Amino acid sequence: MRSEIVAWIKQHVHHGDARDVYPYWPAPAAIISDGAYGVGGFHGDPRTPESLADWYRPHIDAWAKYSRPSTTLWFWNTEIGWATVHPVLAEFGWEYVETIVWDKGIAHIAGNVNGDTIRRFPVTSEVCVFYRRRLEFPTADGVKPAREWLRHEWRRAGLPLNRANDACGVRNAATRKYMTQDWLWYFPPPDHMGRLVAYANTHGDPAGRPYFSLDGRRPVTPEEWAGLRDVWRHQHALTNVWTEPPLGGEERYRGNGKRSAPRIHNPGKNATIHLNQKPLAFMRRILAACTRKGDVVWEPFGGLCSAAVAAAAMGRNPYAAELVRDFHALAVRRLCETLMR
Ligand SMILES: C[S@@+](CC[C@H](N)C(=O)[O-])C[C@H]1O[C@@H](n2cnc3c(N)ncnc32)[C@H](O)[C@@H]1O
Repeated sequence: MRSEIVAWIKQHVHHGDARDVYPYWPAPAAIISDGAYGVGGFHGDPRTPESLADWYRPHIDAWAKYSRPSTTLWFWNTEIGWATVHPVLAEFGWEYVETIVWDKGIAHIAGNVNGDTIRRFPVTSEVCVFYRRRLEFPTADGVKPAREWLRHEWRRAGLPLNRANDACGVRNAATRKYMTQDWLWYFPPPDHMGRLVAYANTHGDPAGRPYFSLDGRRPVTPEEWAGLRDVWRHQHALTNVWTEPPLGGEERYRGNGKRSAPRIHNPGKNATIHLNQKPLAFMRRILAACTRKGDVVWEPFGGLCSAAVAAAAMGRNPYAAELVRDFHALAVRRLCETLMR
């Protein structure tokens, strides 16, 4: 058992730069990024946000390259840090979905003040911004987003829009939901997509076949269509504002006690080991929403590998990297404890 875990750790938790291992990790269902903030928070974190776009660019490039169309990205940062990096994410095909605000509450203010910050509303938040891959399809008339592509292929087949209802065996929902150009558009579920595809390729103009093809040779199958979409599992009564105090208690690794670790930056007796350790509850929440059992999860900036720890406990398949030896060692210990439970 122990030797199996050691072998697993070697393969899944890299000590070094994430950029060196991206090509060797399996394609992710989700990427949880908690890297530079532009606040000088860890060795290598720029002191200000201006250079963050350059800091992240090679990572974002690799995430795009090794992702699937269904991969989601969860980008933790400060508000200004994220705003600075967003154009690079958009450039590499990451489509903004929403911003989650971690509201740490009034307790976070204590001691967090200088002559500058006292002249503004105290900041008690961090953000985690949710992205998915922009879903686009090449056509003879240029690249089309999914919504336009559906309509484009149906029209190209020479079919009136209302025939989408016949294809799906419904009264009017298919035309209204799948063929609309406005924001009320719905992504057709795989069974309905299968019917639309079969209908267009049977009743559409034979000269233009195949319709709804990803490779220009044959139509997309319902399974392939399902694979283009990210997983989403609704969690009742959760909004995009997550109100939780900064991480404390048993879960927080500190410079002494049973949670002690190799001395890092010589923390005081009760000082936190890693300034940025994220609550496991947040990582669980993200992973429950966007992954299934067995799915690959990337955590390129591991720290104490909170995302990988949550992922392993939930039966996902995490891959993490961490540059600093002592953080890496502690993350390995956390993961071993999780896997042995
Ligand atoms: C914000 S912390 C992550 C904290 C983590 N979410 C946790 O809960 O413990 C970022 C970490 O990324 C590491 N790091 C920075 N650049 C890296 C890179 N290119 N490859 C791997 N790790 C990196 C830093 O050493 C730092 O520990």
